[in-house]
Amino acid sequence: MNVAVTTNQISDVSDLPRNCSFDADDWRILARHWYAVALVRDVEEKGLVGAVLLDERLVVYKSGTEIVVANDICTHRGVPLTMGSNPDGNGVRCPYHGLQFGGGGKCVKVPAHPDNAIPGKLHLRSYPVVVRYGLVWTCLRPEEGEGAAKVPVMPHWDDKGFQQINCPHFDIAGFAGRQIEGFLDVAHFAFIHTETFADPDNPVVPAYETKPTDVGFEAEYYSTVGNYPHGKQDETPKDYLWLRHFRAHLPFTAHLTVHFPDGGRLSILNAATPVSARKTRLFVPIARNFDTDRPVQEVYDFNLKVFQEDAEMVEQQKPENLPLDPRMEAHIPADRSSINYRRGLRDLGLSHFFIA
Ligand code: FES
Ligand SMILES: [Fe+2]
Repeated sequence: MNVAVTTNQISDVSDLPRNCSFDADDWRILARHWYAVALVRDVEEKGLVGAVLLDERLVVYKSGTEIVVANDICTHRGVPLTMGSNPDGNGVRCPYHGLQFGGGGKCVKVPAHPDNAIPGKLHLRSYPVVVRYGLVWTCLRPEEGEGAAKVPVMPHWDDKGFQQINCPHFDIAGFAGRQIEGFLDVAHFAFIHTETFADPDNPVVPAYETKPTDVGFEAEYYSTVGNYPHGKQDETPKDYLWLRHFRAHLPFTAHLTVHFPDGGRLSILNAATPVSARKTRLFVPIARNFDTDRPVQEVYDFNLKVFQEDAEMVEQQKPENLPLDPRMEAHIPADRSSINYRRGLRDLGLSHFFIA
């Protein structure tokens, strides 16, 4: 018996990474957005680092003053370039036959044939790079000519009087959408963050509004929940209402400005990079205009504790993806931001994210 197979019955996934864990249509939508893949200081120190973005394995390396993001696979015989080295800061050298790759991912040296012209087929597939907030940002499927304008905005990073702090990245065994939703959620403070900043006796979530923006939405949330670490909480002036100003940048970045007493501002970017459907690498640049002479290690330690408190929940949530159909989970009024977030993802055309 002849079985007719038309091309549209077979979905073409040849443009997707090997072992892609995302639904193919969702992957193509997510791949048009910009994500942080490395801390600049790590690339500077080590010469090259590995990263995985949406299941695509990448090498991030220095070539002179340029930072290059390229596929982590040697065009010659497929060895991961992250196994190689960057001996003089001018590019990555493959450990197998010594091919070297420089600016823009171009192959610049074939040691076995030093006098031959280098064919273009040996160049790496590379991606556009924007360096911002101490992070390397890239996009796997950029629109023609786009760049810096697509990178999420972080207020205060470059403002005078603000200290710039980049926490070491933090890996989460969970989906980026769940993590971002948790970052936007204020109802869990009194239960999850009692060891760090929250008050277990103050669980009430006052009403708040959300406003749409070009890239997602924002919410100004006022409450009496302080943001000082435990031990310093008596410093909150009486009747002070803390303002937390959230800005969501779809799909997986969100920003929070916490308004401290006496004009103090804490600006936190939560950039949740989707390593795969089930893994997230969190980058968190922070800017503040108070305690600017305090050691940054204190901030690293405090935030690490907060990330761990959140990750304990995010890594256990079921289903592991973020259900975009509002009927699949029950909601409470405090979830206004998270309902907006899910609606925004749906409006981007995203569906269930995972292949299974
Ligand atoms: S596999 Fe990389 S140089 Fe041959
Ligand atoms: Fe949290």
